[in-house]
Amino acid sequence: MNIILTGSVAFDYLMIFPGYFRDHILPDKLETISLSFLVESMVRMRGGTAPNIAYTLALFGEHPRLFATVGEDFEEYRAWLDSKGVDTTWAKVIPGVYTASYFANTDRSNAQIASFYTGAMAYASQLSLHELEGSRPDLVMISPNDPEAMKHYVTECQEMGIPYLYDPSQQIVRMTGEELCKGIEGARALFVNDYEFALIQKMTGTTPSDILKRAQFMVVTRGEQGASIYSGDEVHHIPVVPPEHIADPTGVGDAFRGGFLTAYIHSLDWLTCGRMGALAATYCLEQHGPQGHSYTPAEFIARYRRHFDDQGKLDVLLGEERK
Ligand SMILES: Nc1ncnc2c1ncn2[C@@H]1O[C@H](COP(=O)(O)OP(=O)(O)OP(=O)(O)O)[C@@H](O)[C@H]1O
Ligand SMILES: [Mg+2]
Repeated sequence: MNIILTGSVAFDYLMIFPGYFRDHILPDKLETISLSFLVESMVRMRGGTAPNIAYTLALFGEHPRLFATVGEDFEEYRAWLDSKGVDTTWAKVIPGVYTASYFANTDRSNAQIASFYTGAMAYASQLSLHELEGSRPDLVMISPNDPEAMKHYVTECQEMGIPYLYDPSQQIVRMTGEELCKGIEGARALFVNDYEFALIQKMTGTTPSDILKRAQFMVVTRGEQGASIYSGDEVHHIPVVPPEHIADPTGVGDAFRGGFLTAYIHSLDWLTCGRMGALAATYCLEQHGPQGHSYTPAEFIARYRRHFDDQGKLDVLLGEERK
């Protein structure tokens, strides 16, 4: 299946300050505040919603296409994604600009001072799905990105009749109720976590059944409580797969989407879609960063079968490994 992933592409620069920010803030000098913290460690993680989801799909042997704007510092990230099987042809470099970057400094009490630079992501609305003429996508994922770009891709998918999955997540707060309704109306599916689900209902004045009249199905993730898949009158609850240990929750939502989508594009049933999402999320949780985990389809299937009986259905994933 020809699947396009739209969404942010970013680097996360994560620093640790071995002290307490509060000890260095002088309340009577706030008008001339000037602080520099010598940090003890820094890591740069590859992230962003679109490549995170693409990464999981690629672990299963898919070749999803990344559709995004990136900066001049993207080349090493591109090489990494290419080596995993992600098609980065449509990751367009914006000259003279950096890839979106998140800089976070965390102190001993977990207080955080962070900055997010949108960089090349601010240009995402300049990309048009019309440019894909000749290799029309079968499915488009619209994940958190520059808000203008998200609206633009919704309009284009609707005009071009391309099925899309609407995943507004953390950008919900940057949209109006009307814009959210437009994204949901006609979407193949809505993907959100339970907090975002409540926020959407409040902002749009809709109920879950109203949403299901507009989108074919809906997936609500609930952290360690698992996830729910709503389709027509059916609701499937998907419990989590217990992690062996928890290293870092960053990217679990994206990993869940990647696992779910892999089952979905193989036309597997809802329970299998949800369970694959849950196990893909658990793998992510066990390593640092959103793309720190790895497995072969055979390893994934073996672990899946220790928890669930798939009646052999997951053998379809092994076909991809041989390609
Ligand atoms: N503590 C946990 N143990 C096992 N699985 C978990 C845990 N937390 C999350 N998951 C899995 O990950 C899925 C997505 O988690 P969650 O609902 O927290 O996403 P999110 O809030 O969108 O996360 P993100 O911070 O990545 O945006 C859950 O449905 C569940 O399967
Ligand atoms: Mg999320």
